[in-house]
Amino acid sequence: MLQLDLFPTYGLADSVASTTFQDNMKLPLHRWYRYTAGFSGAWVGEMLEKWKREGRSRVLDPFAGSGTVLVESMLHGVDASGIESHPYVYNIAAAKLQWDDFDAEELAGGCLEVLRKAKLKEISRTEYPALITKCFPPDTLKKLEALKVSCREVEDDKLRNIVWFIITSILRSASPVGTAQWQYIQPNKTKAKVLDPFAAYESKLAEMLEDIQKLKGRFGASSSAVILKEDARNIVSVPEKWADMVITSPPYANNYDYADAMRLEMLFWDDINGWKDLVDKVGVNLIRACTQHVSALKDSVGYMSSELLAPIRDEIEEKYFLLKDERSKHGGKKNYHTMVAAYFYDMAQVFWSLERVTSDNCTMCFVVGDSAPYGIHIPVDEWLGKLAQAAGFNDYSFEKLRDRNTKWKNRKHRVPLKEGRLWINK
Ligand SMILES: C[S@@+](CC[C@H](N)C(=O)[O-])C[C@H]1O[C@@H](n2cnc3c(N)ncnc32)[C@H](O)[C@@H]1O
Repeated sequence: MLQLDLFPTYGLADSVASTTFQDNMKLPLHRWYRYTAGFSGAWVGEMLEKWKREGRSRVLDPFAGSGTVLVESMLHGVDASGIESHPYVYNIAAAKLQWDDFDAEELAGGCLEVLRKAKLKEISRTEYPALITKCFPPDTLKKLEALKVSCREVEDDKLRNIVWFIITSILRSASPVGTAQWQYIQPNKTKAKVLDPFAAYESKLAEMLEDIQKLKGRFGASSSAVILKEDARNIVSVPEKWADMVITSPPYANNYDYADAMRLEMLFWDDINGWKDLVDKVGVNLIRACTQHVSALKDSVGYMSSELLAPIRDEIEEKYFLLKDERSKHGGKKNYHTMVAAYFYDMAQVFWSLERVTSDNCTMCFVVGDSAPYGIHIPVDEWLGKLAQAAGFNDYSFEKLRDRNTKWKNRKHRVPLKEGRLWINK
């Protein structure tokens, strides 16, 4: 049996690895779902311990994602609240937080019963969305469909959520095409390692049971971690002045589409019909950090006259018109100018929202990266810092962790970009 070191020391606090999810695949609970947009659980654990020693006890993550901060909080005895507005990402975090609610044997019995029923199911469905048939050969699809139908038959809500989670987490590993855990699916590429859906289901369950057995009784009871399906721009369920720590990573203004990142999964579960449905059902609740989500906006000069953007008005106006001008020189005609205006408008709302729910001695850490659409640099850390100050926070500083300029390479520019931690105090 695999021996888990519960808190391995990677020396992550000072390392660039703290901004990536990579090492989480070795950590209990975190490893249940590979969420590439996530950051390091070990680093979050170190932060929580440090801030606990300073007398802090309640942490908030307004962009909770797969629940890295929430899981670590349970393991470190800190009360936590997380906000996540993507329904699928929310479900993933919610399932991970249930680890302590189950008896391992009971969970094993329930999940294996679903598998047993799936293996006996006769599947007659042959019509699927095009992306699904491109990603899964007919035999694989029959097995996945059988698992899906069996999952829907589970009456107990908690068990059904866990079974949903297991099936969702194995989908990509059961596909022979390029389905890296990232936004774009590449049906023309093939993968070296492909898992049989039933075998993948069983081994994911085994991994989860191992973690539950290992952690049961040792963690969890002394703290509560809750995930809320809300919008960080308008946090309503967290009491005023509740949090004295914020650890988070918002979407970067780099055109990555968080709605699209789960298109395969949402199509598989028949929750969307196509791209427009995805934008209407999911995109509207997300920070507008990609051009797809601002395509309906005719123009966004209106945002610039908003009081919310007053602290950065001159700078953002200058970049806005540069981007608008640049747009006319490019074939794709991307609305980066609109995206940048909407992004900072949204993030200003987040800081006002956070101001309400954080205590007077709250300290915050935002893992952020800057961007350069069409080669025009947007100083994200500085602008976010200024917007936070205008919302009532006191001071900010940026700690650079690494250089990054790969994202925009295909746009043929060499503007140096960086990623790091934006520290903000009340
Ligand atoms: C960089 S990821 C956070 C990953 C997280 N730190 C983890 O380790 O899993 C940003 C998350 O913000 C979510 N998000 C985007 N807009 C949001 C909004 N308005 N309110 C709440 N969450 C939002 C996205 O769905 C995404 O999961």
